[in-house]
Parts: sequence; C-alpha cells; structure tokens
Amino acid sequence: MNARSEAGGGYSRARQAPAPPPGSGGSGRTGTGAGFQTMWRELAAVGRDSGSGGYRRYAWTPADTDCRAWFRAQAEDRGLAYETDRNGNQWAWLGDSAAGDAVVTGSHLDSVPDGGAFDGPLGVVSAFAAVDELRARDVRPHRPLAVVNFGDEEGARFGLACVGSRLTAGRLAARDARELRDADGVTLAHAMERAGYDPDAIGADPERLARIGAFVELHVEQGRALDLDGHPVGVASAIWPHGRWRFDFRGQANHAGTTRLEDRHDPMLTYAETVLAARARARTSGALATFGKVAVEPNGVNAIASLVRGWLDSRAADEDTLAEVVAGIEQAAREHGARDGVSVEVVRESFTPVVEFAHDLRDRLAALIGADTPVPVLPTGAGHDAGILASAVPTAMLFVRNPTGVSHSPAEFAAEDDCAAGVTALADVLEGLACR
Ligand code: GLV
Ligand code: MN
Ligand code: MN
Repeated sequence: MNARSEAGGGYSRARQAPAPPPGSGGSGRTGTGAGFQTMWRELAAVGRDSGSGGYRRYAWTPADTDCRAWFRAQAEDRGLAYETDRNGNQWAWLGDSAAGDAVVTGSHLDSVPDGGAFDGPLGVVSAFAAVDELRARDVRPHRPLAVVNFGDEEGARFGLACVGSRLTAGRLAARDARELRDADGVTLAHAMERAGYDPDAIGADPERLARIGAFVELHVEQGRALDLDGHPVGVASAIWPHGRWRFDFRGQANHAGTTRLEDRHDPMLTYAETVLAARARARTSGALATFGKVAVEPNGVNAIASLVRGWLDSRAADEDTLAEVVAGIEQAAREHGARDGVSVEVVRESFTPVVEFAHDLRDRLAALIGADTPVPVLPTGAGHDAGILASAVPTAMLFVRNPTGVSHSPAEFAAEDDCAAGVTALADVLEGLACR
C-alpha cells in the first residue's frame, strides 16, 4: 500500500445525480440487476461535462480521485481487501492476495477527452457485479480473486496510454514516466504527488504479477463485429500493433492580410496534405491512421501559423504494414514540407506491438460462456491494459456488443441486456477459473 492518502476524493453517494443505467432509458427492465445499476448511477455523474455530455476523467485530476474513491467504497462495501499498488493501480481482493495463482478482472476508470460512459467503467462495474453474482450463486473461489482499476489507461493527460499497467509490467521506466508532461507542463510525478501518491515508489512490480494466474478484462466493443454477428458477447483473439507519432511542422508566422501566397511558409498547408496522405495510405493498406489532436502556434485567426503540431495514431493488423504506413505518411509530410518551405520533425511517442492473447485461456473462456451457442472470437484495433499484461500473465478479454460501434465519444453505448449478458459471462468465467 503505497498511497500516501486517498484524501481529496470528493466522491460521495449523496451528491451523485441519478443517471440512467446503460441503454435502459430508465425503462425499468430487469437486465443488469440492482447492484449493477446502483454502481452505474453512482459513477455516471463523476467527471461528466455538462456541455458535451462526455467524460473528462484524466489521470490524477479531481475527477480521477473521485473515481478512485468510488472504487474503494465498492471494495469496502463488499468486504474485499482494498489496496493501491506502488503505481497507483487499485485492487480489491477476495481471498488471500499473497497466495498466488489469482484470477484478476477489471479495467480502467479514466477517459479520453469527452469519452463515453462504457470504455473502462463497464469492465470495472461488471467485475464487481460478477463478484456479487458468484456470491449469489453461493460458489466459493479456491483461488484468490481480485477486481482491479488500472490507472491512466487512456493517456489523455500525459500522452502515453496504459501508464499504470506499463509501469507494473516493466514496460515503462519509472524515470521516463515521472518526466511525462501534460499540456500545462505539469510532470506526472508532480501530478501524482498532488493527488497524494508517491512518485518515487513507481516502477516494475514483478512480485505482484507473479501472484496472478489469469487476467480477464471485460470491455465494451469498439466496433460493430458483434452487432453484425448478432451476439451480445465475444472473446478477443488479438490486439493490433499501434502507436502514436508527433509531427512538428515549422514554418513562419506572418500577417494573414498582407503576405503574398508565394511568400508564405505555412505549416497548416503541409499538415493538411499530411492528413490527406494518412487517409490515403491507410486505405490502400487496410490500416488505420488518424490525426485526432492538433496544436497550433500562435493560434491567431489573422496570423499564418509558425508551428502546427499534429499527433498521428496509427494501427494495422501486423507490424510490417504499420511501419510501411507510418513511413509513407512521414515521406508525404517531408515532400509537402519541402514544397511549402516548412520543416518536418517526427517523433514516435509510443508503440505497442501486436498482442496475441493466450490461446488456451481464450479457448477456455469461449467454452465457459459458449456452451449453447459458439462465441465469436475477434481481434481489435483498440489498446487495453490486457494487452500490456499479456506479456507477463495469461490474459484474455471479453467484449460486450456496441450496436453503433461508436467509442471514445459520448455516443458510446451498450444495451442493458447486453451488459447483463456480459456480467453473466464474466461470472461464468470467474466461476470456471476460480471455483471449480
Ligand atoms: C485506447 O482506448 C486506445 O486504443 O487508444
Ligand atoms: Mn479507450
Ligand atoms: Mn478502455
């Protein structure tokens, strides 16, 4: 237990405004059960922006602290042993946490800017609901069970995804993590400290990982495969390799009303051509390439920009294709930059190799939840803590149908009955792995 304090969590049940449970529109259908719905309502108000309707739960901010307080309350309400690890990840244990061969489930509670309600929280809420379900079934785990909330999964504030799990798995050096900076220049170390955690203690935690026999993350699907297949729940096969690259386009600030077109060094033009090139390269390679974040200096309506900084997120089914796509986009950026009199610098900020989930665990999950109907087994282009842990621990994922496929948006959605099917599937998996 490394947290200096959990203080500052403004989470309190009394002040939560009611919000409808997933997909129900308040219809009163029974789907997920009272425990799930109560948890969902409590969490629904935390970090929600009233203007956009989306979530802004960034690492080590007050909204994140509120989510953490909520997690701790759920653990304590159930009599689970609560702890935070040296990297700020939260754990709720049923059984002896030191015994080893534990079955762990959970996800994350932080969000992207104006994210949806399901990406992350569905996995954590379903994990607690599945523990409740095991108790209702009166089955006793003979392996330790834990619910986990991994910190800073989305990387929305410090630019690097899955910081909590990366640190734990030794995939991110403590020194590098401490130096990550947010848009205001605040280091991760300082932000952690302000939230009451000790940044000097962060780092690889092999002893903790050695006590885990299996990790299962339930997540809302971030595509439409299950909807098209007509299944409420699926099992993950793999995660595409993916990464983030920062493109700095430097030109010359100048007057928008007096500078002849021939005399301009406008990085916005080079940026725009690069965005188009990214789309074209991704399309021809069957990959994905997105510029979703951009910063402009001086950012004046009547000034040609001096700097456009754009972040590329690119993903593909295999690492060679991904490398080719990114190299092609970089080449296009440099060619257009040379034409526009704009310099181009490209920095890879993060990279996650392809993840193939443990086949035996994946097959076990499919068998445990697919006794009546075969369960779809599908790859995803989205990153997850499960993908990071897979290098150290047998890991698997369950997906819950998302009828529109929309994610990282307030429109993200899963129907209540599908959430209920997810909880049942997760409880079946936990029972199969830990209780038999
Ligand atoms: C996380 O959700 C990611 O895929 O970027
Ligand atoms: Mn996400
Ligand atoms: Mn997620």
